[in-house]
Amino acid sequence: AQNPNWVSRKNSMGVNFSNDNELKALAEAINAKSGQWNATPLVPGAQGNGPTVAVTNPADRRDPVGSYVSADAALVDKALANGVAAQPNWDRLPAASRAAILEHAADQLEARRGEFIALCVREAGKSLPDAIAEIREAADFLRYYATMARRLFGHPEQLPGPTGESNQLFLNGRGVFVCISPWNFPLAIFLGQVSAALAAGNSVIAKPAEQTSLIGYVAVKLLHEAGVPADVLQYLPGDGAVVGAALTKDPRVAGVAFTGSTETAWAINRALAARNAPIAALIAETGGQNAMIADSSALPEQIVKDVIASAFQSAGQRCSAARVLFVQEDIADKVTGMLAGAMAELKVGDPGQLSTDVGPVIDEDALKILNDHAARMDKEAKKIAEATLDPAATGNGTFFAPRAYEIPSLNILKREVFGPVLHVIRWKGSELAQVIDAINGTGYGLTLGVHSRIDDTVEYIRSHARVGNCYVNRNQIGAVVGVQPFGGESLSGTGPKAGGPHYLLRFAGERTLTINT
Ligand code: NAD
Ligand code: ALA
Repeated sequence: AQNPNWVSRKNSMGVNFSNDNELKALAEAINAKSGQWNATPLVPGAQGNGPTVAVTNPADRRDPVGSYVSADAALVDKALANGVAAQPNWDRLPAASRAAILEHAADQLEARRGEFIALCVREAGKSLPDAIAEIREAADFLRYYATMARRLFGHPEQLPGPTGESNQLFLNGRGVFVCISPWNFPLAIFLGQVSAALAAGNSVIAKPAEQTSLIGYVAVKLLHEAGVPADVLQYLPGDGAVVGAALTKDPRVAGVAFTGSTETAWAINRALAARNAPIAALIAETGGQNAMIADSSALPEQIVKDVIASAFQSAGQRCSAARVLFVQEDIADKVTGMLAGAMAELKVGDPGQLSTDVGPVIDEDALKILNDHAARMDKEAKKIAEATLDPAATGNGTFFAPRAYEIPSLNILKREVFGPVLHVIRWKGSELAQVIDAINGTGYGLTLGVHSRIDDTVEYIRSHARVGNCYVNRNQIGAVVGVQPFGGESLSGTGPKAGGPHYLLRFAGERTLTINT
């Protein structure tokens, strides 16, 4: 039965594509703000002298989007001092007051979604549907963690005790939380981390990804306008290896919420452990080597539709994206043939057009990694298909044509390939156990797609695959806040799951009060 506590909150609605006025307003918002966003660190009482970084549109590097001033060492120090001083008062506010501020911010975010959608398209290269979904997900996180804060932090839990004694369990904020986010969900993950840490009574220093610092700036300003004090939420843009590293080695940090690559999570874990300081909480959500398994009971048309969405939507730049399709050999020729046909229809180009399926990859570094991988696959694997790039539409941006390769085994893939590249492996019906062993053997454990109409097969996979999110007979992307709590295990993350009922607890401390009455 559904837990009655989970139904009181509605998810955000997004944009109605059949309403011409909504679409017109959206188009105006995207075209209105050419080159007008300029961000500086937001640290009360200090300015900083870090370098200024120009931001351009990944779909067209001739399009200036704005610039941001990076934080420097003096600002890191001042931000931590501010955060330590401000946290106790924020923590002592009733949870309902913190929740109301976050809910107000969600309303404001939706009211101003045109500007945020424009930023997601022009700074992050998000396609229009992805940008709209991003704003919805961000609003959902704000409201979900507000709801959970009221529920978990609103009242102490009353515990049993002998006559004459009362026992209560209180939750409290831990102190200063550093939130370090990636560019691929520059608003949803950025605000998800920040709102969870704030809801639980922490002060926050938000370090956005270098590639998407402008979105983070506008989001932090929005939270300030909604009522979060400026010293409770501070914004420190800059290079991860400089600003992120300076923050995570500081003994004043009580916790880190990190989403990004597994390698960076290791670096942060080492930095926190090397401090001569109280042991910090680390919530790390990292990469994956996600598979989809399809057997011969599944419908090839549905497999192809779901694999196209899972591997190529968002230009494959989702941690949840399918990287490897294990297809049973009986249907493999049919599926790969249909896959090649579907890939020939993919339109790669301007992410601001609704007709576009695949936008740019985030930057030149990402493009180089993908081109190097494709060059290796061209030698070591059999190409199934490569989508077409129209030079007129893609010549000034960082575009990569989606590709699919047939490979003999997972061993050929050394690490996560973060872009629109699908690898296909054939398997025999008798080899399901080996397929699961191979997937578990990567050490990652984020998402898994399954296409099968055989209940025993689905149950075998569910009970043997070590993954955080398993999706059956659908695509494996786009987890919905409060509905599909999201996050992996092993090399893919520490848990708990974002958008799930236990997430806030990891941001909190617990105190027991015993009174002899
Ligand atoms: P990244 O690890 O390069 O960077 C992430 C953040 O860490 C950035 O803000 C960066 O500035 C910062 N950083 C870099 N070095 C640092 C250091 N030494 N100390 C502190 N901070 C540092 O990752 P990315 O390229 O921005 O994002 C893509 C990765 O994120 C992929 O691996 C993807 O799978 C993963 N991801 C995971 C999830 C999830 O929920 N599991 C969600 C989205 C993305
Ligand atoms: N939460 C994102 C998804 O499920 C990463 O695709």
